[in-house]
Amino acid sequence: MANIDFSKRDSFGSKFGVIAAAAGSAIGLGNIWRFPYVAGENGGAAFLLVYLFFILVIGLPVMLSEFTIGRRARLNPFGAFKKLSPGKPWYLVGFMGVVAAFVILAFYGTVAGWTLEYIANALTNSFEGKSATQLETMFSDFKDSTFRPIMWQLIFMVLTAFIVLAGVKNGIEKYTKILMPILLVLIIVLCIRSVTLPGASKGLEFLFNPDFSKLNANSILEALGQAFFSLSIGMGTLITYGSYIPKSNNLSNTALQVSLADTLIAILAGIAIFPAVFAFDIAPGSGPGLVYITLPNIFQQMPGGSIFAVMFFLLLTVAALTSSISVLEVVVAYFSEELKIKRKSATWLATGLITAIGVLCTMSWGVLKDVSFTFSATETDMATGGEKMYIFDILDFAASNVFLPLGGLFIVLFVGWAMHRKNVHNEISNAGKFRTILLPIFMFIVKIIAPIAIALVFLNGIGLLNF
Ligand code: PFF
Repeated sequence: MANIDFSKRDSFGSKFGVIAAAAGSAIGLGNIWRFPYVAGENGGAAFLLVYLFFILVIGLPVMLSEFTIGRRARLNPFGAFKKLSPGKPWYLVGFMGVVAAFVILAFYGTVAGWTLEYIANALTNSFEGKSATQLETMFSDFKDSTFRPIMWQLIFMVLTAFIVLAGVKNGIEKYTKILMPILLVLIIVLCIRSVTLPGASKGLEFLFNPDFSKLNANSILEALGQAFFSLSIGMGTLITYGSYIPKSNNLSNTALQVSLADTLIAILAGIAIFPAVFAFDIAPGSGPGLVYITLPNIFQQMPGGSIFAVMFFLLLTVAALTSSISVLEVVVAYFSEELKIKRKSATWLATGLITAIGVLCTMSWGVLKDVSFTFSATETDMATGGEKMYIFDILDFAASNVFLPLGGLFIVLFVGWAMHRKNVHNEISNAGKFRTILLPIFMFIVKIIAPIAIALVFLNGIGLLNF
């Protein structure tokens, strides 16, 4: 470690650049594809409330903890823990993050590939005149096939690798600053179309009128997992990005702004999707295909819908790319700084290995559909024989509901108990430059509240504790 030359390390160019990169990582398929389908499967509004609570009480402190560790150490997660706590096994948390990055990017590439297919569908005007049932069949036929989903996944992974190779500052940082605001505008347009559909109010009720009887231990864990996934926390992505943040940046403000932006986009995605779900009589618990069925339905009901469709799926791909590069960066930074593999080879090696696992995810419903197991979270599940989980669902569940919460637990414990308080204070106050009245509250949360909350939700969710 002693031979790392810190003066050569890349860093973000400006304050806005930091926000763009971190928000670019946070805002992605997790907000627009994953949030609506997981909320739909877990009862809607009650889930949303628990989710918001977790973002505020757990997500935000974990995010600030990651920035603090990263900027203090100026290293990849594995190296950062080793540097800040030499001779102790904390580096294993960094290692777990690298494993989580493999798992997440594997299935993320599958879904990003679907998005590319939908750009092609939009360009060829394939949604026009189709009923909700036909659009459902169109999606499931595509997802169950072999060649096209894999082809799109490979294209997406190669794009991710190219951007990571080009460096973040001059590539993605420049474009996201322009493209993310356009995505926001498009989602707002979709929200307006969706809430003005006949029968839309049922969807808004589903999203905003809580029915707590729909929550169970597993759905609370799902809300925690979704908060971690959406904020890109719990696996060291923001430790890695934190290591590129200039010393002058106010980390608390950055964490707050990124979390707010991320939450706003998730809620807007919910407003765009649920009214349409009910207007077109689609089941809210339809699973991972939800947005690929509901949104084409909206597009074909809009004047100029095909243009909106192309733009939307294109921008969703961009949002996915700004997230996938941050996941790949974790592995590449680890391979290059710890295993001393050259950055270029490290990028291709990581991309190749992750894509190999990713192809298994993509084939989950096709060639590999017999590799599945049945999961029963509730009594209804047990009565109906349970929910079938394929390779894709297993990796999605393991990453979001196991790896990320566990990673987050150790990250807050590290900042609360293992790091020198003076170092934490220095990072958050920029060596005393900012007044940090909230610091004692932050310390109390990371020392006690967040670890206990994560542990309880986790143990309860996997059935080891029963409340
Ligand atoms: N936050 C991203 C999204 O919502 O799409 C996904 C993600 C990126 C998860 C980076 C985890 C991560 F480390």
